[in-house]
Amino acid sequence: MDAKRKEPRKSLRIKVISMGNAEVGKSCIIKRYCEKRFVPKYLATIGIDYGVTKVQVRDREIKVNIFDMAGHAFFYEVRNEFYKDTQGVILVYDVGQKESFDSLDSWLAEMKQELGPHGNMENIVFVVCANKIDCAKLRCVDESEGRLWAESRGFLYFETSAQTGEGINEMFQTFYSAIVDLCDNGGKRPTSSMSISFTKEQADTIRRIRSSKDSWDMLGVKPGATRDEVNKAYRKLAVLLHPDKCMAPGSEDAFKAVVNARTALLKNIK
Ligand code: GTP
Ligand code: MG
Repeated sequence: MDAKRKEPRKSLRIKVISMGNAEVGKSCIIKRYCEKRFVPKYLATIGIDYGVTKVQVRDREIKVNIFDMAGHAFFYEVRNEFYKDTQGVILVYDVGQKESFDSLDSWLAEMKQELGPHGNMENIVFVVCANKIDCAKLRCVDESEGRLWAESRGFLYFETSAQTGEGINEMFQTFYSAIVDLCDNGGKRPTSSMSISFTKEQADTIRRIRSSKDSWDMLGVKPGATRDEVNKAYRKLAVLLHPDKCMAPGSEDAFKAVVNARTALLKNIK
């Protein structure tokens, strides 16, 4: 008998925090997972809520300390001390509220600032929740935009609804499992499961194309450019974004937009 092999592995204690603007659904996501219920009435978190839960990841029992932060700016002084010693962050935005998506960067900045110059964000697992997907009519941040933001930073990405429960269990399971991998890997993010399959140039180009104001702008040429200039710019983008070559979220749409922009421009250039 191999007694050693039967020995249960040491139980783990981890700390996770939630971040994101007020009212995006941080508390409801946690409640949906821990209590299997949804509360439609908004009860703002005051400062911080704390809870402990036990979860099973593969053969391990994990004790999770969850610190659910208040999103309102005026609670900054209450929540700022809770950033340190965190292994996982649940970063939430509301898909019907562009501002909550645009704020994700400032949440990262706040955390970075609180961790100070010696803090290391590389050794933390981040999961981005695009929440309230049940409100399809109000949606204004689409999946590829959110996924691109997350995956270009090496973060996990899930579409969730605390109301219907969609995506919630899957999100937590993947999140906890990535944290366990991280702890087993000596506190470093395992490169294999989190590796980025596209370049920063590809991600930046897709973002630029999405926000371009017209076809000239999209191809990155001056209004009045010649056929040659348009074709040259097109070829460069086509090579970068061709869906066979580019795995970045949104590359297919960006590629189609570039093809259409070129066609539209060439029609009007002699
Ligand atoms: P703060 O604690 O103020 O930072 O807000 P929070 O991010 O914790 O938001 P909370 O979980 O309290 O939810 C805010 C409001 O959104 C509540 O009225 C919830 O019922 C609602 N809500 C949360 N998640 C969902 C969802 O997935 N779908 C819908 N339709 N409503 C949701
Ligand atoms: Mg809350």
